[in-house]
Amino acid sequence: MDYQTYMQERAKRTKWFMEDRFGMFIHWGLYAIPGRGEWVHSDEKITQKEYQKYFDEWNPERFEPKEWARLAKEAGMKYAVLTTKHHEGFCLFDSKYTDYKSTNTACRRDLVREFVDAFRAEGLKVGFYYSLLDWHHEDYPVYGDMYHPDRENKEYEHKKYDFSKYLTYMHNQVRELLTEYGKIDILWFDFSYEGHYGKDWDGEKLVKMVRELQPDIILNGRLEANGENYGSVMSDEPNIFSGDFACPEMIIPPYGLKTPKGVDIPWEACFTLNNNWGYAPLDKHYKSASQIIKKLVECTSKNGNMIINISPTAKGEIPSMQVEILQQVGKWMQKNGESIYGCRAADIEKPEWGRYTRKGNTIYAHITEEVIGAIAMPGLKGKVERARRVADGFEMRLFTPWVAKEFPDYEFINYGTPECFSFSVEETVDTVIELRLK
Ligand code: GLC
Repeated sequence: MDYQTYMQERAKRTKWFMEDRFGMFIHWGLYAIPGRGEWVHSDEKITQKEYQKYFDEWNPERFEPKEWARLAKEAGMKYAVLTTKHHEGFCLFDSKYTDYKSTNTACRRDLVREFVDAFRAEGLKVGFYYSLLDWHHEDYPVYGDMYHPDRENKEYEHKKYDFSKYLTYMHNQVRELLTEYGKIDILWFDFSYEGHYGKDWDGEKLVKMVRELQPDIILNGRLEANGENYGSVMSDEPNIFSGDFACPEMIIPPYGLKTPKGVDIPWEACFTLNNNWGYAPLDKHYKSASQIIKKLVECTSKNGNMIINISPTAKGEIPSMQVEILQQVGKWMQKNGESIYGCRAADIEKPEWGRYTRKGNTIYAHITEEVIGAIAMPGLKGKVERARRVADGFEMRLFTPWVAKEFPDYEFINYGTPECFSFSVEETVDTVIELRLK
């Protein structure tokens, strides 16, 4: 396929995704039992044998997928991505290629199917995270691997394994996930590292199969990348492993991502709510609702998406702090969502008091700083027809205040008279003003 056709198809595939802007990530697996994050197996070098106890214990009796889905919807999220299998290798779905799955635990449930059904019922798009690494499979490299929990365990030093068997297993599971659960909107592979890039995953075959089974699915770039870099999706010559979007992790790119030729690159920044992806009750370093709102606006203003993670307990409950934060975000989204969904970079100088997003002929001014007196808007002199506060439709006054005669290049707005009205601290979570252009 030639470059132009490929770029056009990518833009078409990712259209809904780049309009929806806001998603829910869900990291859930056996690691929720010890509650020290999803890397506990590797970080603490818990041997495979020892880790088995978590499988024996797994029983999420309080898992109510409908509640999860309702929360996502309430928060204003439009899609959700669940870890169908994380690096530990445990499958939340009823795979016929392994015994290491939720249907073989006390709960006997296909948690992926329940997730898919519940989220679809709420009108949300569904995505699957799938770990390329697998610390359970007998043909995955152990001794000397960079990350495997038993990487220094002498017992495995001379263990024979056949990586091609793992590849067959991994490809089979991806096929299963993309045939047994209806239309899947996003496939989120994680991740590549030394000796395990694109080709090593037999990636070409994998991508072809994925596209054949689900022609509209959106694929991330980690079949050749990781958090450190985003792979060839950044270039004007993306290869077959590039996926459709870049996934910056725990960072908002300082500017919107474009290829050297200036083509917009779809991207989605992923964030934890505290500092862990997997359940970690001692980690109370939560981001505030206001922070999430402001950062979602920042992503939108740079043509990107944001996916925020929740980390349910082993019993299947979402920690109350996470519920509260997302509900607060939802309150803002309910009133101001139109300044996010379907919006993009305004391509106007960034104002000092916040940011602009844009949808067609409408610019949204996101005021996130306290302002004294009228608000000076760069780039818009003489261009604005009318201004309204989005949350309640209140009319803003467009004028040049008597103290602003020295700054003729700016348009100004304020609440009305007196001209010296100021924005209070409470208003600075993000007061959105709709500016309709002439
Ligand atoms: C990382 C981690 C992982 C997490 C993911 C989310 O690569 O390995 O635990 O699932 O990023 O972006």
